[in-house]
Amino acid sequence: SSPTDDTRRLLSWYDENRRDLPWRKDPTPYHVWLSEIMLQQTRAAVVKEYYTRFLAALPDIPALAAAAEDTCAKLWQGLGYYSRVRNLQKAARIITLEYGGEMPGTPEELKKLPGIGDYTAAAVASIAFGYPAPAIDGNLLRVFARKTCLPDNIKSKEAKAAALTYYEAAIPRDRPGDYNQALMDLGASVCLPNGKPDCSACPWQNTCRAHETGTETDFPVMPPK
Ligand code: ADE
Repeated sequence: SSPTDDTRRLLSWYDENRRDLPWRKDPTPYHVWLSEIMLQQTRAAVVKEYYTRFLAALPDIPALAAAAEDTCAKLWQGLGYYSRVRNLQKAARIITLEYGGEMPGTPEELKKLPGIGDYTAAAVASIAFGYPAPAIDGNLLRVFARKTCLPDNIKSKEAKAAALTYYEAAIPRDRPGDYNQALMDLGASVCLPNGKPDCSACPWQNTCRAHETGTETDFPVMPPK
């Protein structure tokens, strides 16, 4: 089947099954950015409360730029990886001083900001700006590895490049942020790690090579220990 069929099926699945998460309600650049930074090393269930409290205290980029460092650190307390919040504030100050307070909307510009790499740049650009960039995280890699019975180890450059090629062709120009988030949800609730996918619930059940060949538990190929 064509990427278009798979894309349509995935988005229909997302429309029925999307998780109700606070950062999906009003996906401004600041909201999406903050949530993606928090979600990098922390589970969504935990992030929910931190996210809401952080925004109540620092509702926009100018507020974050002007805040005392200590205020930011306290709002982050318990999340760990404190360089994340230091970079967040550094970037807010750069956005205020160099971008007139407006977050840039392309992955290339976003990646110039501290703390924003390939994944976060693509997530913010797609979800907040509608820019068609695949946000390749562990979920998107695992789903792709199973869908194609990818022989490369999942941590390799080759695996990432192959996933990027597939997703770049498949990501819909009208709903790139929903497409990325659909894959994140699929990876988090259906195409689970540790060889425990729930294939009966998967919108890609009929076009997944691992499912077709009964090899779900053989993919993704893990790096040698
Ligand atoms: N994990 C990282 N980004 C996410 C998002 N936008 N929605 C759900 N889970 C995520």
